[in-house]
Amino acid sequence: MTHLVFLGGKGGVGKTTLSCAISYQLAARGRRTLLVSTDPAHSVGDVLDMEIGPAPRRVVDNLYAMELDLEKIALEKGSRVKNIAVKILPPDVYEAFSKYVDAVVKGPGVDEYTLIEKILDFAKSEFNYVVFDTAPIGHTFKLLQLPDLLKSWLDMLRRQRLSYVKLSKNVAKLKGEDYRGDPLLEFLEETAKKIDAVTQVLKNPSRTSFFLVANPEKVVLDETLRFIERLTEIGIPLKGVIMNKYRHPTNPKVRRLVEKISPLIIAYVHEDEDEIYGVEKISKIGGALTSVINRLTTLS
Ligand SMILES: Nc1ncnc2c1ncn2[C@@H]1O[C@H](COP(=O)(O)OP(=O)(O)OP(=O)(O)O)[C@@H](O)[C@H]1O
Ligand SMILES: [Mg+2]
Repeated sequence: MTHLVFLGGKGGVGKTTLSCAISYQLAARGRRTLLVSTDPAHSVGDVLDMEIGPAPRRVVDNLYAMELDLEKIALEKGSRVKNIAVKILPPDVYEAFSKYVDAVVKGPGVDEYTLIEKILDFAKSEFNYVVFDTAPIGHTFKLLQLPDLLKSWLDMLRRQRLSYVKLSKNVAKLKGEDYRGDPLLEFLEETAKKIDAVTQVLKNPSRTSFFLVANPEKVVLDETLRFIERLTEIGIPLKGVIMNKYRHPTNPKVRRLVEKISPLIIAYVHEDEDEIYGVEKISKIGGALTSVINRLTTLS
């Protein structure tokens, strides 16, 4: 079964660098690994120093990387929904509905929703590990919280549609016709099932590992602590904090914050003097990540 790995954290803490390094180490241990960039400002290609596109590209043995174009996927999904609707709605209603779908697929939150659908595909893929390089904290948090929000919204739509379907069934009966089912209701039920499935995967620590990346800086640590609380609230188990760009904190405030977080820190990656890019440099971060890799490889 595919194990999913997420790295979250404030902007610039090293999520992309470390997701490349973790993916590299998993591949080096013989695990088939796919690194997926979900950040609209893709930078996996820059860090690996090679062209990465929307299809998995081989980086080294066992390691593939890709950049998801969530916007494009959402537009395609919008067209599919409209194809269902055009078959069942009267033309004037369809026109209004179609405008609504266009607004939704270009609206806020759609990237996260699209990603949820893709996560399910990845969870069933032939890879041993899929490592996600996500956008900064706000985006990741929205993504993790979305299944619950979507679920209640969908339930409401489903209930409304159900009463309509009941009525149509009765009308068909009265007319002595066969009732042919309702594609929109089927679509809503299928979507609700997908959301249930993704929630189960994300909340199951043997299927998903969520790590937070932090740096020894006051504002980063403050945000990390808040994020840990929010994860607990929404029931996503945290596997640990990776302290990146580590140098011994001289500031007492920072020292206290590091101490507070320390029970959750599972790896310290020291600050490198050089810029880290290219597979060769990425491969060298391995040693500091041994505990992370050990923990992951016992899972899949
Ligand atoms: N251990 C380290 N030592 C030195 N520099 C580092 C280290 N880790 C990351 N960096 C540098 O920090 C910068 C930000 O790293 P990276 O792009 O990986 O962060 P990010 O969290 O993905 O950022 P964003 O939130 O913008 O996506 C880069 O210039 C990277 O080379
Ligand atoms: Mg990044």
